[in-house]
Amino acid sequence: MRVRRCAVTYIEPREHAEFDLGSLLAGGGGAVRRQEWIAHAPHLPGEVVLDIAEVECLGRLSPREWVEPGILGAASTALPKLLECGLVLAEDGAGGGEAKLRDSHWWPPAAMLHRASRWRGCDAAAATEAAGLATAEGLRSNLGSPPPAVVARASPDDRVPLPRAAGAGFDELLKRRATCRNFASRPLSAEVLGAMMQRVFSAQEIWQVEDDTVFLKKGSPSGGGLHPTEAYLIVQNVEGLAPGLYHYHAIEHALEPMPAPEDSLEELALRTVAGQYWFANAPVMVAMATRFGRCFWKYRRHPKAYRAVTMDVGHLSQTLYLAATDLGLGAFVTCAINEADIEEALGLDPLEEGVMALGGFGWRGDLMNNAEFDPAGHVWRT
Ligand SMILES: Cc1cc2nc3c(=O)[nH]c(=O)nc-3n(C[C@H](O)[C@H](O)[C@H](O)COP(=O)(O)O)c2cc1C
Repeated sequence: MRVRRCAVTYIEPREHAEFDLGSLLAGGGGAVRRQEWIAHAPHLPGEVVLDIAEVECLGRLSPREWVEPGILGAASTALPKLLECGLVLAEDGAGGGEAKLRDSHWWPPAAMLHRASRWRGCDAAAATEAAGLATAEGLRSNLGSPPPAVVARASPDDRVPLPRAAGAGFDELLKRRATCRNFASRPLSAEVLGAMMQRVFSAQEIWQVEDDTVFLKKGSPSGGGLHPTEAYLIVQNVEGLAPGLYHYHAIEHALEPMPAPEDSLEELALRTVAGQYWFANAPVMVAMATRFGRCFWKYRRHPKAYRAVTMDVGHLSQTLYLAATDLGLGAFVTCAINEADIEEALGLDPLEEGVMALGGFGWRGDLMNNAEFDPAGHVWRT
């Protein structure tokens, strides 16, 4: 059985400081420090704690060439654990996620970031509340004062005042855009859902370069014009549409039903937004999932590619906010989501097609039970 190291791994020396009474009684600082080696790899579900012999063994293996374990000498004793956790691969084994990563065009640090920043089963709402960070006052008292809201780079006398916009409909639209955390139980009509999807996610033009090479024009810009981000819907409350999971076909402007989740849709919705109950009853949620292969087809192992797809999703988010506001709806976007849970429900492999953010929209309720940020009362007129 020949072996090689996985294609991408990063080793972190991590220090743990623990309270130690003995150290305190002996006149020390009361803390003992322990060093650990942690391996991170994008194809693994989590980090792996290694000892120095295992680190040494990994360092002696090639990520490309298959070798007989015998060449490792004494270091080969570390192999069983490294093989079991997936940091080392056997030539006759199933490559799985590692093989897919190897065949993809991920820039390795971006693959690592993408994998490490995903959540599963996290209750961000409870954690934020427990830390006292759910309100502006709590943030201030627990974290101290933030960096200033604006900075000055010249003295006031040197500033060049700019004319203000004349005050057109667009300005009113921008003023009425506010993240909605209070959805009504009123269903959305199919017409409103259709208008939203058309304006935010549909192809407006199709440019066929070759039979197998198509570029789309959409309402938001996209790095390289590739539009790699798909829209998957959690539909909870739309007239005439069965609640469930759907994929949006951006050329056909149609919904494609997907298999029902194992849990109830309500549970999946709440888990997807990481316990943020103020979003969970949105009539429609849209998981924005990027097909990395489409972007990395052009930007191969490119240090800017992941930044570009992240920005793409940001543009889609703002278009979603503005399209919703224009229709009189409330909308939100969040990246505090359990990507792993929603990807599993949608059957997505996160290194091929990963959920980057989640938006939602629906009619706003009459009461502001959960705080919204509308200091001038453009949305919540008193
Ligand atoms: C990338 C991003 C992530 C966000 N995540 C959350 C979130 O997890 N929970 C939430 O309640 N709002 C979230 N928001 C909304 C912001 O809190 C909101 O935009 C901000 O408070 C300003 O309010 P406004 O959108 O009404 O102007 C997010 C917004 C963005 C752009």
